[in-house]
Amino acid sequence: MEFHVLTLFPEMIQNTVNTSITGRAVKSGKIRLHTVNIRDFSDNKHMRVDDYPYGGGAGMVMQAEPVWRAYESVRVKTMAAQKGKRPRCIYLTPQGKVFNQTMVEELALEEELIFLCGHYEGIDERVLEETVTDYVSIGDYVLTGGELAASVMIDAISRFVPGVLSNEESAQFESMQDHLLEYPHYTRPEVWHGKEVPQVLLTGAHAKVEMWRREQSIKRTKERRPDLLEKNRPVTVAYFSPTDGTRKAAEALAGFLTQSPVMLDLTRRKNRKQEIIFKEKELLLAAAPVYGGQLPKVREELFSNLRGNGTPCIVMAAYGNRHYDDTLAQMKEILRARGFVCIGAIAPVIPHIFSEKLGAGRPDGKDLEIMKRFAVEIKKRIERAGEDGFREISLPGNSKPGEKELKPVKKLFYKERCTNCQACVQKCPVNAISIGTLEIDESVCINCMRCSRVCRQNARAFDASQTAVYLESNYLKPREVEFF
Ligand SMILES: Cc1cc2nc3c(=O)[nH]c(=O)nc-3n(C[C@H](O)[C@H](O)[C@H](O)COP(=O)(O)O)c2cc1C
Repeated sequence: MEFHVLTLFPEMIQNTVNTSITGRAVKSGKIRLHTVNIRDFSDNKHMRVDDYPYGGGAGMVMQAEPVWRAYESVRVKTMAAQKGKRPRCIYLTPQGKVFNQTMVEELALEEELIFLCGHYEGIDERVLEETVTDYVSIGDYVLTGGELAASVMIDAISRFVPGVLSNEESAQFESMQDHLLEYPHYTRPEVWHGKEVPQVLLTGAHAKVEMWRREQSIKRTKERRPDLLEKNRPVTVAYFSPTDGTRKAAEALAGFLTQSPVMLDLTRRKNRKQEIIFKEKELLLAAAPVYGGQLPKVREELFSNLRGNGTPCIVMAAYGNRHYDDTLAQMKEILRARGFVCIGAIAPVIPHIFSEKLGAGRPDGKDLEIMKRFAVEIKKRIERAGEDGFREISLPGNSKPGEKELKPVKKLFYKERCTNCQACVQKCPVNAISIGTLEIDESVCINCMRCSRVCRQNARAFDASQTAVYLESNYLKPREVEFF
């Protein structure tokens, strides 16, 4: 990440950014800081860059030309300019949009940012019109100049640049993620001024400590920032994933949305039987694999046990690099009919169960970057909804596709290896395996291959070699993750 700062006081920026964690990041090259002194671009022999305001009044105004020249000296060197685009240029002003955590995450996705710091009464409006892309305020108060505000932004953004925080630092609970404040911290000694460290922290019981911290964080937010708690939106990930590919992709996306998702495994039959009701102030991520271009056909339609109350949802159709066809549209329709508003959709590529080559190693680093971008976009959509309600998105595909016959896959069963542990019977998502004979009922089976995945003795397998040949001769070219 490259930060360019246009300022009359470069040392103010240099001093703060080159210290502590951001200083370490500059040294290791994770972030780059480039300050430009606007005064160097004055054409006045006294190096003046300000003048009296037209129309009278107190204070001085920074002139357009030196600011323009300073900006141009940076712009021509930016990666954006090389791609024929306008670079992102942030002007720090109390008139701007108030800086928050979503903005931090969004700006951290950029390769480079220009900050323009004003002084005196401000900068000639005409040069702002030609340079600035974002007007940002760090709070409702006035500073003597933009430098401290730019430093604050650079600090917050740098924390989200990969590699700036150590693994340990970044795995920490984040105040503000999920709109919750952090729990209280304690270190040695165990008793100080007669005050004891809460007992639970001394037990070493990890799950209990986690629960206590979560409770404390909610309590603290309620007491100190009830306005934030209002914005907290628990995320549930309801997924169907016989061989875990969809689950892994859904978990990765959920990790960019929240620190503590609730995982609801709809692959388990019992979890599809009970009705689950969602409040408006929640978020559902519904994830399923693509089978023949649509949702896997289970007896009670997938997601039919979920009920929303105008609850926003994201749909994820994970597929093996052929195509997702109608699946996203179909999921949106099912959930819409059950009281959800679909505010986003994503189709990640995952390993194809019938080919070792299609989707191998996906989601990869690039896919995760796209998911991160999508998560930021979702957060922005949720914030915007505060003003005018959730907006349903439109999606490609047929929302009510006709039934498709899928050719069954040849299943293999090595009886001599089977110990009759019944794992395949219990874990079959559609109850297609007989408890007594262990035979598969092909009229119920969805060919998901979970039975071969869960068999510890390798007594179950399948032969999809013909399908693999067809897939590999037509769909080998890696597809990009798409989102809407
Ligand atoms: C019966 C069946 C049909 C499939 N059809 C498609 C398809 O049409 N397009 C595609 O890209 N992947 C298809 N796949 C691959 C799956 O979407 C996915 O890669 C994986 O097999 C299932 O995900 P899971 O690991 O979450 O169970 C199919 C898989 C199965 C088992």
